[in-house]
Amino acid sequence: MELRSEIHSTKRRQTPKIMRQMKILFLNGPNLNLLGQREPEIYGRATLGEIEARVRERAKELKVEIDFRQSNLEGELVGWIQDARGKFDVIVMNAAAYTHTSIALRDAIAAVGVPTIEIHLSNVHAREEFRQKSLIAPVCYGQISGFGPKSYVLAVEASVFVKESKKLH
Ligand code: DQA
Repeated sequence: MELRSEIHSTKRRQTPKIMRQMKILFLNGPNLNLLGQREPEIYGRATLGEIEARVRERAKELKVEIDFRQSNLEGELVGWIQDARGKFDVIVMNAAAYTHTSIALRDAIAAVGVPTIEIHLSNVHAREEFRQKSLIAPVCYGQISGFGPKSYVLAVEASVFVKESKKLH
């Protein structure tokens, strides 16, 4: 009887440390603030705010915390990537036009070592030749491209997968 209560109390003392909620940083590059009115035949009619709401809905179901940002400035995006180390588990990045031009973003992703998922609304591989080259792809965990706003929702699920699969290694 006494032994039992000893085991019980030992167990209680060994309560697992409180699990921190997984955190995903969504970064959006130039002109994505114009979604909804910008070339709707390519990017659809959803605004970035509406896409963010869909991301938050899925994140709530998966018990994941979201930070969602947009900037037209390359340097600001670089700063946000640098600051993500130790604060976020995964970065999801629609670098927009900087995908095809920015060595600075590529180097920042490589430098911080936070697993990063590249996303696009449109299928960049089915568009102009200059969009078919991504400078950030080689330093990203993977890419989701061509599903419209659903690319963002899929990225929440992919982020959970990345976190879980990291645990297995
Ligand atoms: C985009 C594709 C890029 O080529 C383009 O410059 C964008 C948006 C996309 O989400 O489909 O601005 O990243």
